[in-house]
Amino acid sequence: MPGRFITLEGGDGSGKSTQSALLVDWLTAAGHRVLVTREPGGTPLGEELREIVLHRRGDIAPRAEALIYAADRAHHIATKVRPALARGEIVVQDRYLDSSVAYQGAGRVLDGAEIRDLSLWATEGLLPDLTVLLDLHEGEGKGRLADSRTRYDRLEAEAVEFHARVRAGYLALAAAEPDRFLVLDAREPIDTISAAIRERVSHLL
Ligand code: TYD
Repeated sequence: MPGRFITLEGGDGSGKSTQSALLVDWLTAAGHRVLVTREPGGTPLGEELREIVLHRRGDIAPRAEALIYAADRAHHIATKVRPALARGEIVVQDRYLDSSVAYQGAGRVLDGAEIRDLSLWATEGLLPDLTVLLDLHEGEGKGRLADSRTRYDRLEAEAVEFHARVRAGYLALAAAEPDRFLVLDAREPIDTISAAIRERVSHLL
């Protein structure tokens, strides 16, 4: 693929959207064509699936939840991301398959390898060129989010232990694929984080 695929990962409220916006501004100013997108969502079908999986009240069985994220991903990658990569664009995406391994695998305690394989099947094996993990210490993100959001969110409503498992899951993924991951401390100042991301991305271009 001529383009580059960059994903941002991290706990809820780790600053992914801020960093994504700064990275996109920098890339665009340098003359690159950029697609900015997110999962769940990113397509009309995806936005409907997002409503269901994030905001619908009531239980969703863990495997059903995993399949909804995988369905969203399959459609998003096939109809939006792969075409952009084929056109040579840089795709900056908020969350991808590592979110599923961390949340549905480590968080919901499904088998992480199976969850990863499900996403790889869904996307015909598409892995990011770079994944930025904004690592957030337990408890931090929830405090930050409380100020800005009031809408019910099924995953944000989960217990502290759930988020601790998610964080450990992310760190294990980063340790397993050190070449793909850039792990940054989400508590660092915004400018420090954005500079580190730009430095790594410039090597990719
Ligand atoms: P999001 O709207 O991206 O915002 P934030 O990261 O700021 O909370 O949240 C999406 C939620 O969906 C988040 O709680 C993580 C969850 N999620 C999964 O559980 N599995 C997945 O595969 C993806 C993409 C997201």
